[in-house]
Amino acid sequence: MKILMVCLGNICRSPLAEGILKAKLPKNFAVESAGTIAMHQGNAPDSRSIKVAKKHGLDISHQKSKHLKAEDLENFDLIFCMDKHNLQDVKDLASNENQVKKISLILENAEVPDPYYGTNEDFENVFQLLDKACERISREVVKL
Ligand code: 4NP
Repeated sequence: MKILMVCLGNICRSPLAEGILKAKLPKNFAVESAGTIAMHQGNAPDSRSIKVAKKHGLDISHQKSKHLKAEDLENFDLIFCMDKHNLQDVKDLASNENQVKKISLILENAEVPDPYYGTNEDFENVFQLLDKACERISREVVKL
């Protein structure tokens, strides 16, 4: 199974989501992340995401920002978006109903707030939200 985490820049939230979920799943699951904008393509995660991950025992420093491509919607089985803007942008790239069905918000009834202009505390909050969400996702997908 291939799972894709999506945010805007692929430097703050989705790299954390990738690292957290990967650590909770067996090695036969592929977890990647991408951004709906190309601006940060090739860059490492934001230093504040690297720092909060490290604080919780995860190394995400090797990741490189990728721009989401239409073919990702075919190649991944599940696509989790951080907020409603990301959700709409990913859905706009879908070319059929099967692709649309793969796309959802990572939190069941809320958004993961964009911490880019925020503080270390905002990054800690994002980490906690994603950790809970990834715990739920990991339990669900191992059953599939
Ligand atoms: P991310 O955060 O979508 O969680 O990676 C952001 C990264 C970059 C920008 C905004 C949010 N930006 O405006 O460049």
